[in-house]
Amino acid sequence: MKNTFGNSLNLTIFGESHGPAIGAVLTGMAPGIKIDEDFIKMRLAMRAPHGQISTSRKEKDQFQILSGVFEGKTTGTPIAIIIPNKNTRSKDYQKEYLRPGHADYSAYAKYHGFQDWRGGGQFSGRVTAAIVAACSICEQVLQEKNIIIASHIKECAGIVDSDFETILGQENHADILEELNNKQFAVIDDAKGEKMQAEILKAKSQKDSVGGILETIIFGLEAGIGEPYFDSIESLLSHAVFSIPAVKAIAFGAGFQFARIKGSEANDSPTIDASADRIDQIKFASNNNGGINGGISNGMPILFSTVIKPTPSIAQKQKTVNIKTLETTDLEIVGRHDPAIIHRIRQVVNSISAFVICDFLALRYGTDYLKN
Ligand SMILES: Cc1cc2nc3c(=O)[nH]c(=O)nc-3n(C[C@H](O)[C@H](O)[C@H](O)COP(=O)(O)O)c2cc1C
Repeated sequence: MKNTFGNSLNLTIFGESHGPAIGAVLTGMAPGIKIDEDFIKMRLAMRAPHGQISTSRKEKDQFQILSGVFEGKTTGTPIAIIIPNKNTRSKDYQKEYLRPGHADYSAYAKYHGFQDWRGGGQFSGRVTAAIVAACSICEQVLQEKNIIIASHIKECAGIVDSDFETILGQENHADILEELNNKQFAVIDDAKGEKMQAEILKAKSQKDSVGGILETIIFGLEAGIGEPYFDSIESLLSHAVFSIPAVKAIAFGAGFQFARIKGSEANDSPTIDASADRIDQIKFASNNNGGINGGISNGMPILFSTVIKPTPSIAQKQKTVNIKTLETTDLEIVGRHDPAIIHRIRQVVNSISAFVICDFLALRYGTDYLKN
């Protein structure tokens, strides 16, 4: 029952959807890192529900840093952050009806019915606010090192956004990625974003939900970071990203396309300018490998795609089992749910990826490196 992740850095999360609070403890951060609480607020706002396309459960996410930060800087001791739950409505949930697609049955099997089932308990997306709060400290650290993490909604309800290629060719790509990070609905092409949101609302009116694909870029990471085999960049990013509820698949670089192309198309050829005089000036002519070879960064942007399933709690009548009577029965879920969660999960993916990259950097250079 491990709720902790990481090597040099550790992230522990706790709390339930309708308990008094959720929270996270981040250990291993170097002393002396400046903490910008407004940045944490901004990132929490990106995960928070907004408008008709999200749940109407609105939480203020007024976090409190309990330890590990003194006079605005990290002390080097565990950073504990809590976020109170204020807007709960437990009467909407019924313990005896298993919600299809949710973790009600699997949690019951594991915890023998002792789990806090209200609002999905620990399996609720609510807990991801704690991940965002703690890991946005890692995002701040990376920004200082000119490493930018950004995700966009590559696909939602069958509508496809432009891809990162269109941004990377531009001189001001760093500003564009920053702009993307500040969008509540993170798409490169806003017209496509409008269409996606219309499809989300349509699904909602049909008492249904939709999923999609996020594409994430980690820009500015030098070559040589990562480990071969068990702790490869792909392994640890996947491990972290799969911890986010509703994530069902992840692929790096060309991903599943690799199964359909030849080696001559798949290989990324190293290139170097005629004027170059250092080996770290090597780049690659393409980036099918998503910036990773042998589990280690190759200096190209790290690129991966994450599949988010449609929100399980839908208002349509569904078949389920009543665990009290052990009878098959109809279920009509009431209460407040997201008709899509992809736009909210994008920030959780960015935040937890920032944690993983900080952890890799700390492993290579020591945790004090995070401060410089
Ligand atoms: C930010 C966020 C919000 C979520 N909102 C809901 C929701 O409103 N209703 C729901 O049924 N599931 C929601 N989920 C998804 C469930 O938590 C998730 O599907 C469930 O725990 C089962 O886990 P699995 O889908 O990974 O198997 C949300 C997830 C996240 C990350």
